[in-house]
Amino acid sequence: MRSITFPRPHFKWGKPTGNQTRTLKKYIDEGGDMSIYGDSGIYEQLENWLCEYYDVNYTILTNTGTSALNSAYVGIGVQRGDEVIVPTYTFLATVTPLLRIGAVPVFADADPLTGNVSPEDIERKITDKTKAVAVTHMWGVACDMEKIMTIANKHNLKVVEDCSHAHFTRYKGKLLGTYGHVACFSIGAKKTLTSGEGGFLITDDPEIYVRSNLLGHFEVRAEDAIDRLKEEGFQDLHDRYAGYHTGFGENYRMHPYSAVMSHALVSSGEIFDLIKKRSESLRYFTEQLDKVRFVSAPVLHEGYFDGAMYGYKGKVHQEKLNIPVKDAVGMLKELNMEIKLPDSEPLHRKPLFNHLQDLGISYDRPAVSEGQYPGAEEYFDGRISLPTFSQGIGLDRPLIDEYIALLLDFEKEYGLNNRP
Ligand SMILES: Cc1ncc(COP(=O)(O)O)c(C=O)c1O
Repeated sequence: MRSITFPRPHFKWGKPTGNQTRTLKKYIDEGGDMSIYGDSGIYEQLENWLCEYYDVNYTILTNTGTSALNSAYVGIGVQRGDEVIVPTYTFLATVTPLLRIGAVPVFADADPLTGNVSPEDIERKITDKTKAVAVTHMWGVACDMEKIMTIANKHNLKVVEDCSHAHFTRYKGKLLGTYGHVACFSIGAKKTLTSGEGGFLITDDPEIYVRSNLLGHFEVRAEDAIDRLKEEGFQDLHDRYAGYHTGFGENYRMHPYSAVMSHALVSSGEIFDLIKKRSESLRYFTEQLDKVRFVSAPVLHEGYFDGAMYGYKGKVHQEKLNIPVKDAVGMLKELNMEIKLPDSEPLHRKPLFNHLQDLGISYDRPAVSEGQYPGAEEYFDGRISLPTFSQGIGLDRPLIDEYIALLLDFEKEYGLNNRP
């Protein structure tokens, strides 16, 4: 059988671009600050850019996406014993900040087609103790935000959007991150917007802004945030938080060099050129994948191809193969395809969430209920990670053509109901 002739990696991302390197070098050569306690300099520039792009009042840069989530939960006022409905299919950090607060995460099932949290299951899980709902737009595919916001508003719940996979992504014309009360983003590792390590949160709510600031900062920035409430006419809020100007000082400050590198990507518009290239390649791959019967493309919302496109998770159909999916994936990998079974297993299967009482978290009902997540299981089983081809159609077309040719060869050999 043929193999892929292009050397790996087939997905190239997460290295500084020439523009990022030059901009950072210039910043260092010109003696730019290595540490900033307040919200001036490069922090101000990047926060302003993000506020403008997302058309929100407040942005707080953080050192990681996880810190943004920690800040957001404290920001919306989640307390010990509160229940927060979270997706079972998400990354750990959407949920673990709740454990530190002593709040109870209550898992909601996924839509088996998209993997995203099911609005119907969110509604089923609401009790008198529910304080908030968190959602994650997994791999850049939008959750059904209209339904989710209707449910949340009906029950007076705050909504946290984890947009770590969904920068610059629109759903029904509106940017993801602007549906809920607060949105958190990671800009670490190979995220679509990346400067290695970093994160941020956005909100329009002055109380979320000040509380989030107080958690991650001390004196200088904490005081600035409290003063800002007064300047903006929120006198009552100002008076409520004025006594906490020390902040909790958990130090969630982004490294200024990281801020410089992210700012270089967004302010030059380079990120949108990179997104356009990824979009060309992934659209072509999706079109071509239609020829293969044992693998199907992920179900994507309209708007996916104009946004982050952080991941591309196809599905291998066991019923169309005469060998186990796991073996098929292993063999294709041997043939130099960049393919794997995803490691993002639904959280209800992880031991941590089945032993919350060991962490001192008490609950009337378990966070994880046996057999209640058929949607997440159906979505996840048989799912495969494929490259998020990102070099643009000129470079990626021959590589994608090899992927399709190999999948068709493989289907001839191992597919059930083979074509004549
Ligand atoms: C959905 C999601 N949320 C949160 C995070 C945490 O971000 P960070 O690694 O920047 O802390 C990640 C990181 O991969 C993520 O995928």
